[in-house]
Amino acid sequence: MDGPTTPDFAAARRALTDATRVVVFSGAGMSAESGVPTFRGPDGLWKNFRPEQLATPSAFAADARLVWEWYDWRRRLVSECAPNPGHIAVATAQVVSDKQIHVLTQNVDGLHERALSDLSEATKQGVTELHGSLFRIRCSACPYERPDRQAIDASSFDSLPRCPDCSALLRPGVVWFGEALDEKVLDFSFQAAAEADVCVVVGTSALVEPAASLPRQTAASGGFVIEINLERTPLSGLADAFLPGPSSHWLPRLLTTGE
Ligand code: OAD
Repeated sequence: MDGPTTPDFAAARRALTDATRVVVFSGAGMSAESGVPTFRGPDGLWKNFRPEQLATPSAFAADARLVWEWYDWRRRLVSECAPNPGHIAVATAQVVSDKQIHVLTQNVDGLHERALSDLSEATKQGVTELHGSLFRIRCSACPYERPDRQAIDASSFDSLPRCPDCSALLRPGVVWFGEALDEKVLDFSFQAAAEADVCVVVGTSALVEPAASLPRQTAASGGFVIEINLERTPLSGLADAFLPGPSSHWLPRLLTTGE
């Protein structure tokens, strides 16, 4: 792994020092070292299903019990995971820095939020969950929605959770393939990316749109793009600095110690 003395690291630190507004755009690689499997890596499979086969409205319509079984498994898995040094470095920078540092995450695991709330009860810095959260559930038919951390009984179709307002099936509060992102969330995120002096892209294969275009927005508006990943991605060509290696290695050095 390259050391902190590489030209890319030095350029990234300089850009961050000069920045007033920063966005951190994260994907599944951010949580890999917390033990949360990535989507496209070798461990990204569950009972031989790919996420693309289960995280869709048609999968839910065809077999809601199977989809809930997968989400219940993911909720339990993530509940046992803790924020890693990468999440903690981002949250620490959010709390101690006088810069505006906003997290735009594709992750539904809540680990950025947990790292931030572990450090500070009241911070004006925020986390936007572009693809929703494993720990929200909503109605498949009406606007009902709530935070929810309870185990889901997916042993039969009849045991699945139902909406208290209209009795339709409740579903995970996440964005599925083929569904649009919340318009307000999307507008806010593109604006934040456009206004950012620096966008730190962490652990994403940058294959899923429209989220993957956020760093392009920063670049198009003249901002500096830093990418941290184990391997190069479709975004690497536009990154002003590429830091190869795990996020838990680079983020503390980049955002807190500088060493
Ligand atoms: P992916 O699983 O597609 O990509 C994970 C990325 O993280 C890869 O580029 C890895 O090289 C990198 N990576 C793995 N471990 C890392 C580490 N320790 N440090 C740094 N990088 C690491 O996950 P996403 O890009 O997040 O969408 O996937 C995007 C979206 O596709 C997800 O939000 C989800 C998914 O299917 C929906 O569910 C709508």
